[in-house]
Amino acid sequence: MTDTSVPKAADFYKKLPKVELHRHLEGSLRVSTMMEIVRAHNLDVKNTGYLRPLVQIDHQEPYTFENFLAKFGTLRLFYKSPEIIKRLTREAVEDAALDNIRYLELRFTPVALSRAEGFPMAQVVDWVIESVREASAQYGILVRLIASINRHERIAQAQKVLEIALERKDKGIVGVDLAGNEAEFSAEPYQELFSIAQKQGLRVTIHAGEWGGAENVRQAIEDLGAERIGHGIRVLEDPRVVALARERGVAFEVCVTSNHQSGVVDELSEHPIKQMLKEGLNVTINTDDPSISRIDLSNEYQTLTEILGMPIGVLEERVLAAARASFLPGELSRRLAAKISEDFRGILALGE
Ligand code: ADE
Ligand code: ZN
Repeated sequence: MTDTSVPKAADFYKKLPKVELHRHLEGSLRVSTMMEIVRAHNLDVKNTGYLRPLVQIDHQEPYTFENFLAKFGTLRLFYKSPEIIKRLTREAVEDAALDNIRYLELRFTPVALSRAEGFPMAQVVDWVIESVREASAQYGILVRLIASINRHERIAQAQKVLEIALERKDKGIVGVDLAGNEAEFSAEPYQELFSIAQKQGLRVTIHAGEWGGAENVRQAIEDLGAERIGHGIRVLEDPRVVALARERGVAFEVCVTSNHQSGVVDELSEHPIKQMLKEGLNVTINTDDPSISRIDLSNEYQTLTEILGMPIGVLEERVLAAARASFLPGELSRRLAAKISEDFRGILALGE
């Protein structure tokens, strides 16, 4: 296994081939683009210094899920036109490609993108699909989409999102996700909806065990058919749910920095990812909301090796685990994993 005792330059992590399964479009907006929108639309925002704490984690404020979720409220002010929504999507894909992400599952929230200006939801979804298709070809990155539904939104809206996503299954939408305020809203009302989604060929991932306990992870797996869990770190609170997840091979989309910034773990160095691995859970590494958190996936890989002491060999295994847990068809996912493995070996050989 490769030695990690010598810190690597940030550049080393940039070069590593990457896979990201859990990234929200709405949490991936460039601050520079937001400032351009501010100026073009005469929004009441004086400068970048004023904007940042409204849309990014401010190290002065308490790290709580309420403060974290509040950023999305401000971000909604920027979804002003079809051109802007397409641009934000294109830039999110470009930023992932610049970070050497080879495969990205980008999730987006049709209700949020459409509501602010009253755009028809189906059109908004088509803008995102079109922009992803163009950007992935332009920047040489494979991208698939996941439609996110917020637990705190109305169920009728969720039904509409599902209908629209199902109609676009062959246009790059591969899954559905339940996100939002897990601390105060149960997933139960969404059971039937996710069952329909799955029966009709969409893959299922659920945010659970982040701001709620292990029971939510059990519910996501057993009652909502989740193949993957967004975060899920609080699964460790119940060994029975750990066993369930392990037996079913459920993949965990772990987002270390996000968990710290939204108050789930007090210290980055105490993040339980290593315990999850010890328990034999299928862990993957993700950013969640890179712009809100002021990170990219390279930063996360660096945090894992340098703050959490994860050997590079384990990091590589987790990138391969992400390729295998992707919502791509089996053969494509195997080919992706093989290519990532080969490129990883190449980079490590260069560094030795
Ligand atoms: N939406 C965006 N980020 C999220 C998170 N960390 N948890 C739940 N919903 C989210
Ligand atoms: Zn998330």
